[in-house]
Amino acid sequence: MRFQLKNVTRQFGQHIAVDNVSLEIPAGQMVGVIGRSGAGKSTLLRMINRLVDPSTGSIHFGGAEVSSLRGKGLRNWQRDCAMIFQQFNLVPRLDVLTNVMLGRLNHRSTMMSLLSIFSDDERLAAISALERLGIEQTAMQRAGTLSGGQQQRVAIARALMQAPKMLLADEPIASLDPLNAKIVMDALRDINEREGITVITNLHTLDTARSYCERIIGMASGRVVFDGPPSELNADAVQEIYGSDKDGAGIDETMTSTSINIPGAEASGEKQSGGIGTLASASA
Ligand SMILES: Nc1ncnc2c1ncn2[C@@H]1O[C@H](COP(=O)(O)OP(=O)(O)OP(=O)(O)O)[C@@H](O)[C@H]1O
Ligand SMILES: [Mg+2]
Repeated sequence: MRFQLKNVTRQFGQHIAVDNVSLEIPAGQMVGVIGRSGAGKSTLLRMINRLVDPSTGSIHFGGAEVSSLRGKGLRNWQRDCAMIFQQFNLVPRLDVLTNVMLGRLNHRSTMMSLLSIFSDDERLAAISALERLGIEQTAMQRAGTLSGGQQQRVAIARALMQAPKMLLADEPIASLDPLNAKIVMDALRDINEREGITVITNLHTLDTARSYCERIIGMASGRVVFDGPPSELNADAVQEIYGSDKDGAGIDETMTSTSINIPGAEASGEKQSGGIGTLASASA
């Protein structure tokens, strides 16, 4: 199903955070949104799942106008487009399995949710989501005791429990070391490829967007200034997205690099606890 933004603008007071953005995203695309701090990337993503409402313009999915949904329709939409965040947003005192099952909340009755009663089916689904992300052995651990990379994988497992049609990720690797960044990006790509779920992810770094995303949207001052495949993202386009630094020098791609592919990334020191085969053993 086609997802569409039509002339979407969001203003905060006098400040225009997102400025007249129109986009069409076919189902199953892997899209990276890049741009300087303050360009409007998070606001754009938050409008998509209605954490923030557009000031003007409209958002559509299939035949439905997402931007005018209320009540149950809105809750269903927020279930359909799961979101993960830079800071993972898990409940640190709860065990991993419960955190993952919380992804089912919008599927169940309020009373069952309040009582935290989960069915065997939900437990099994949560365990298989954890297996999918290679962290099933952490199921009974308190989420707050996991490494950042593991926590982000729990957040992805929780998102999968929503059986989403789209997965939105706001800087999912910005707090991670290069090895964990790679594990998390690989997981997003795998979900995109295997389940055909549309992934829209904000990324701070160009090289990550280039290597993982078939389509890159570049934002500057709330506007879309680039929209195309990585192959078209040439120096001029990069310049337009990131502009010049304060001394007027052009931007160099390495300035926005996570060094995700640098040799020796495995020496990051953070211990992985298995699951994703060679990667896990590389860091042991
Ligand atoms: N709730 C808000 N109230 C007021 N201004 C806001 C609010 N949310 C965002 N803004 C402003 O809108 C602009 C865009 O912010 P946004 O967070 O979308 O940028 P971003 O591209 O995600 O930046 P970063 O890379 O730092 O995360 C910024 O100038 C920001 O200060
Ligand atoms: Mg942001």
